Amino acid sequence: MAVVRKPTTLDLAAFKALLAANGQRTEDLGAPAGFWLVAHESGALVGGAGLEVGKGAALVRSLVVHEKLRRQGLGSALLEALVDEAQKRGCDWLYAFSTEAPDFFKAMGFRETTPAELAATLPEAPQVKLYTRLKWLETERAFRRDIAPPVQAA
Ligand SMILES: CC(C)(COP(=O)(O)OP(=O)(O)OC[C@H]1O[C@@H](n2cnc3c(N)ncnc32)[C@H](O)[C@@H]1OP(=O)(O)O)[C@@H](O)C(=O)NCCC(=O)NCCS
Repeated sequence: MAVVRKPTTLDLAAFKALLAANGQRTEDLGAPAGFWLVAHESGALVGGAGLEVGKGAALVRSLVVHEKLRRQGLGSALLEALVDEAQKRGCDWLYAFSTEAPDFFKAMGFRETTPAELAATLPEAPQVKLYTRLKWLETERAFRRDIAPPVQAA
């Protein structure tokens, strides 16, 4: 079973390689302003995910699971760990861009919205700036999940 934890600097090259092998971009990966997770199994990096946090909302980015381990719940585990972190940071909404995995995000409780709404909510997110610069917003798909605040201990 895969173990999910924060990456060390040594993990970043393997994380980038896994993203690149799956056609995902790697700009700003591991940047201190973001929140990052990796998953390991049998000593190999088999997954990862990141969060870019703004005011009241956060963007899921760089979510990837090794092809051989898909449909076993690892993507969901990484996503729910990002939800926990976003809640702790006071976010009410979690967003994602995805043209390749819309069914995953819908299964995870996201609803489709417009890239324009995402960009207006998270204008300072590095991925939003990158996609704006590349003029990709028009062709992207965007998803939003409303997240409840964490339950306070009595
Ligand atoms: C998206 C991704 C991270 C999902 O990882 P995963 O470990 O396979 O996800 P899970 O096993 O937790 O899937 C949870 C649910 O999502 C849905 N789902 C996941 N992949 C799906 C697919 N390819 N087609 C349809 N539904 C899918 C299913 O409902 C699934 O539940 P089920 O297996 O019980 O039916 C993985 O497919 C991936 O790395 N894709 C390439 C990179 C990418 O597109 N990342 C997203 C951009 S940020």
